[in-house]
Amino acid sequence: MLDVNRIRSDFPVLKREIKGKKLVYLDSTATSQRPRQVIEAVSKFEETKNANVARSIHTLAEEATAEYENAREKTAKFVNAKEDEEIIFTKNTTESLNLVMRGWGEKFVKEGDKIVTTIMEHHSNFVPWQQLAKRKKANFEVIDIDEEGKLKEDELEKIKGAKLFAVSATSNVLGTINDVKRLCKIAKDEGVVSVVDGAQSVPGMPTDVQDIGCDFLAFSGHKMLAPFGIGVLYGKSELLEEMDPFLYGSEMIKKVDKNCAVWNELPYKFEAGTPSVNEAVGLGAAIDYLNGVGMENIRKHEEELAGKLLKTVGEMEGIRFFGPRNAKERTGLLAFEVEGVHPHDVAALLDEEGIAIRTGHHCAMPLHLRVGIPEGTNRAGTYIYNTKEEIDYLAEALGKIMKMLKG
Ligand SMILES: Cc1ncc(COP(=O)(O)O)c(C=O)c1O
Repeated sequence: MLDVNRIRSDFPVLKREIKGKKLVYLDSTATSQRPRQVIEAVSKFEETKNANVARSIHTLAEEATAEYENAREKTAKFVNAKEDEEIIFTKNTTESLNLVMRGWGEKFVKEGDKIVTTIMEHHSNFVPWQQLAKRKKANFEVIDIDEEGKLKEDELEKIKGAKLFAVSATSNVLGTINDVKRLCKIAKDEGVVSVVDGAQSVPGMPTDVQDIGCDFLAFSGHKMLAPFGIGVLYGKSELLEEMDPFLYGSEMIKKVDKNCAVWNELPYKFEAGTPSVNEAVGLGAAIDYLNGVGMENIRKHEEELAGKLLKTVGEMEGIRFFGPRNAKERTGLLAFEVEGVHPHDVAALLDEEGIAIRTGHHCAMPLHLRVGIPEGTNRAGTYIYNTKEEIDYLAEALGKIMKMLKG
């Protein structure tokens, strides 16, 4: 079991007050908070080992390089990659997905090919494929959802005959947990390259790329306790080998003369320019922290909070929520509409109570158009440090707001 009180004591920001009220942070789906252990690991690196990596041979540079590579090794183990070189450090999930689009898509997608994604995607896993399809004159097909926000079974047929299939492991709006193992198997059996957006799943549940069977997996450090500015692309080495880099310069080059250049080996081929070194160190510390808590325990905790959100906020009169009705099928977030009240007004009034939630379309406009609320939803997103009491407090505050606005 997860000891929430002990965990909370590791997060300095949770001691803050907002407008005279205790902070209730329910915006972890956008970005998580950082524990002391991560903050300290980054500042210790800056105080004792700060230097550029993979360039100089002085002691500091060698220590910095070792720390950076150590973070890569921890990340590879965390998602069960076969080789450390299958882990490319990027800025965030968005850059990781664009790297696949530029490096693989530009090279291998041809006119008349089919690219498939789903209507529940974040823009970062939708627009790159939409635009690639446009440029290549390829067909762009989108798998629809049912009333509960799950992928429609009969639409999975679309994966067949595609060149590439991109899907999120869990939705950042609906909370739906997709059976990516099954989806990637359908893709693999048909020779379709699979790209999994793990931005929301990797922070909250065990991830094993061998078990999932995906070709690529993208995620961001800042949603899993690490600093901003570090993201990850996992890719099968044989695919990464055949891809072209999409950024040029610095250590991604092995040899260059006036006429041509030879790329460095993996993973450096894709890490142009000075990388996010201290952020990678922070990611390593975040992974240590998450492993210490245990990813199975984190998933259980999220499921409990999802159940609590459904029972309290989800069942309130005047509230409509989106996504599966069973906590086992969802992550620890709840996107909802307060009938007749603009989401921005809800968020501003909750802020007066010290509660931080996200409002808007959560970078998932196609999904909001699909469910018929283009102005967006409210989203409460929990993580390891949230308690059931905080959800009661949110429900109470929402009750107060509805009473005040609707009489
Ligand atoms: C499912 C999903 N994919 C991609 C992203 C983009 O992540 P980043 O902004 O870190 O690139 C997010 C961010 O919220 C997300 O929830």
